[in-house]
Amino acid sequence: MRIHSYEKLWLAASMVLILGFIATITYGAVGLGIEMIGEEDETVAPNEIDDDERFGEPRVEQVGPDEYEVYVIAQTFSFRPNPIEIPANSKVTFHVTSRDVIHGFEVPGTNINSMAIPGQVAQLTVVFDEPGDYGLICTEYCGDFHHQMEGEIVVVPEDEFDMTELSVEAPDTVQPGDEVELNATVRNGQFEELETTVDAEIGNQTFQRDISVDGQSAENVSFSVDSDELGEGEYEWSVTVDNYEEDGSVTVAPNETGDEETGDEETGDD
Ligand code: CUA
Repeated sequence: MRIHSYEKLWLAASMVLILGFIATITYGAVGLGIEMIGEEDETVAPNEIDDDERFGEPRVEQVGPDEYEVYVIAQTFSFRPNPIEIPANSKVTFHVTSRDVIHGFEVPGTNINSMAIPGQVAQLTVVFDEPGDYGLICTEYCGDFHHQMEGEIVVVPEDEFDMTELSVEAPDTVQPGDEVELNATVRNGQFEELETTVDAEIGNQTFQRDISVDGQSAENVSFSVDSDELGEGEYEWSVTVDNYEEDGSVTVAPNETGDEETGDEETGDD
């Protein structure tokens, strides 16, 4: 069979076009690193989200010297945790899921853009090299307040980033003669040891204690004052570690009468 040379030319041209299409589609699917949710087969049942070890407590977790994992829940109409605080120049992997309906997870101006689908966990790995506040928005219509569903990613300079948490247990009232005791727990979520100072104040008494907290563990410190030194009345207290402060007040007073549960008052004075 003889093929006309024009026909050969068009045949060749259409082959080139077809190969071009295939190449473009392949590049778009593979070359850009865009992945579909669920390719890693990470899942979580929406009704078990609160008991899940990843999402039960949405958080930032350090997993290597400059490597962090962030577990995020999108729900009507917020993101948890919020804000998400991470260090600059570290490899951060977001694991995002939804508690209820389909939401979006997008940081405008970056290539962070994913759907948050109930039951599935999207993974995105990013390195932020510019410290600053980045807005996080929901990009899927999810209900009446979809337009208000936003969050914040705070990228902190590496040398200022910490994962210190302070919590304090303190009594609301203390009987005259008893100790006023503040129990502070300093948790260090990072790998490196934390060397710091805990400052406390009860009324006009001040305390200071140097502590070192191992990586990914916690230390307890307690401070106490004899309430007789304070006298009856209401006193402010505070506990400070680096940039974290907890405060409250404690009242030194004899048990009120008429209090049914603690109505076992004998004689007020010893
Ligand atoms: Cu969530 Cu829109």
